[in-house]
Amino acid sequence: MLAKRLFAVGVGPGSPRYLTDAAKEAIRKSRYVVGYRYTLATIEGVIDRANQQVLEVTMKSQEQVYQQVYSDMRDGEYCTVPFTGDVNFSESEVVDRLLQIWGDENTEIVPGISSIQVAAAKARVPTDKAFIVTLHVTGDIEHKKADILRAIRDGRSVILLPRPWPKEPQKHFMQSDVAKFLRENGVDTSALKAHVFEHLTTSKETSFEGKVSDLEGKEFSDLSAMVIDQTRRQTYLEF
Ligand SMILES: C[S@@+](CC[C@H](N)C(=O)[O-])C[C@H]1O[C@@H](n2cnc3c(N)ncnc32)[C@H](O)[C@@H]1O
Repeated sequence: MLAKRLFAVGVGPGSPRYLTDAAKEAIRKSRYVVGYRYTLATIEGVIDRANQQVLEVTMKSQEQVYQQVYSDMRDGEYCTVPFTGDVNFSESEVVDRLLQIWGDENTEIVPGISSIQVAAAKARVPTDKAFIVTLHVTGDIEHKKADILRAIRDGRSVILLPRPWPKEPQKHFMQSDVAKFLRENGVDTSALKAHVFEHLTTSKETSFEGKVSDLEGKEFSDLSAMVIDQTRRQTYLEF
C-alpha cells in the first residue's frame, strides 16, 4: 500500500564530502526536504530547489512545519529530514517525534557519519574503547555526568558532545564545566589528555590538544566535540 514516506537522513558533520551515496539517493527521491539551516547548507549541492519543496525549520517552528508537510504530502511521496552527523546519535528528541507522525513502517533511517566518529579518528581513539555520550539533550544530565566520572575512574577514554545553553547558564555544560566537574570529584585532570575539535570537516575546523585541566576557563564553539584519551594501544602482537 502506498503511504506518505519519510527518510530521516544523517548527512555528516558539515562537509558534503562526508555525505554518503545512500543519503544523496534519499534526498533526490524526496518531494519535500525539511531541515535546520546548517544541515540544509551541507546538502545544498544535492537539493533541486526548482523541483523540491525545501523548508527551513527552527526549534520553535519545527513541530508546525512537520505537521503541515505531513498533511500536504500525497501517498507515495517522500520527505527527507536531514540531520547533522549521524541521525542515530543525539537526535532522538526529534527522530522520536517524526516516528510518531510518519509511523515506523513508513520511515527509513539512513545513517550518517557522526561528529563523534570524526573526533575519534582525529584523536586516534577507537570508539569501541571509549565511553561515548551526548550532553546535548534537553533533560537532566546528572546521570550522564556520573557515567563520565565512572568511565574516567575506570581508565576508559570518553568522547562527548557538550551542552551549549547560553540562555540558561545553569544548563550550559561545556568543556570547561566538564574539566571543573572532574577535578571537583577528585580526578587529577592535569594528568588526563584532552582534545577539542570545533567545526569538524568544515573550513573553520580547529583543534585543541592538551590536558583536561587546561580546559577550565576556555571557551569553545557550540559546534564542538571533546575527547578524553586514556586509551592504551594494544596490537594483535600482544595476544
Ligand atoms: C544535536 S547534536 C547532533 C549530533 C550529530 N547527530 C552527530 O552525529 O554528530 C549537535 C552537536 O553535535 C556536535 N557537532 C555537530 N557537528 C559538528 C561539527 N562539524 N564539529 C564539531 N561538533 C559537531 C556539536 O557538539 C553540536 O552541538
